[in-house]
Amino acid sequence: MLRLLKHDNIVLTPPRLNDAPHIVPLLSDERVYTWLSSVPHPYSLEDALWWLNRVIPHSDAILALLDASKDNPEKITVDRPPVQIIRELKDDGSDVFLGDLTLDLAGQWWELEGTGLVSQPEKPLRGEQPDIWTIGDYLAPSHHRRGIMSDALTTLLTQWAIPRMGVQKMVVTTLKGNEGSVGVFKKCGCVFRKTIEDAIEVRGERKGVHVLEWNLQEYNGCL
Ligand SMILES: CC(C)(COP(=O)(O)OP(=O)(O)OC[C@H]1O[C@@H](n2cnc3c(N)ncnc32)[C@H](O)[C@@H]1OP(=O)(O)O)[C@@H](O)C(=O)NCCC(=O)NCCS
Repeated sequence: MLRLLKHDNIVLTPPRLNDAPHIVPLLSDERVYTWLSSVPHPYSLEDALWWLNRVIPHSDAILALLDASKDNPEKITVDRPPVQIIRELKDDGSDVFLGDLTLDLAGQWWELEGTGLVSQPEKPLRGEQPDIWTIGDYLAPSHHRRGIMSDALTTLLTQWAIPRMGVQKMVVTTLKGNEGSVGVFKKCGCVFRKTIEDAIEVRGERKGVHVLEWNLQEYNGCL
């Protein structure tokens, strides 16, 4: 569990299979799904279970690696964050599902533009040329505009992605007009690169995208 730097009642944790019924209303809300390119609509419980069954083994594998190396005095480098679900902690010890923050290797052509790559391998190479990472995220509308996502992304970057994954470069994408997401990325040190019109088909409609980039060397943080 990773506690946010500025919101101490909000944490990032691994995904759980029983998150499924809490994901459905959020990804059915037009304040959320409208801005997500890869979310089916209408969104069903089966969709949520499919996604959870895909991501849980990844976080389980990282947690197992971390457990196996816990007596090792040197901290190991891992390929993914073990945590991605944003939850609010309640006084009675329970928690409430608030959203998701996924850090993954980038794959869109505009994210890889300029590198000579058309795709990246499933795992980071950590070679001479930095791997290019990207972000996908959403938050419950009840909690929008309280600085939670920018805190979550800053926490993930500074407490995990930089020190434990060796992340040096990100290229992030939002659908055109998504001021909230552009605001989060800028607040976390991303710099606007360009807008591409007619870049992607989203639920049958062509949409433009904004592309922003982040480099470790230029990162001043947003603390
Ligand atoms: C985008 C999203 C994750 C932002 O989360 P959030 O916790 O509300 O964002 P923050 O409060 O950290 O906002 C950071 C900055 O972004 C900007 N911002 C956030 N929401 C905004 C909005 N609705 N309109 C304009 N600017 C906005 C502001 O500059 C804000 O800083 P400020 O409050 O100090 O002025 C949330 O709106 C969301 O889940 N949207 C739907 C899904 C989505 O768009 N996901 C991203 C896909 S790329």
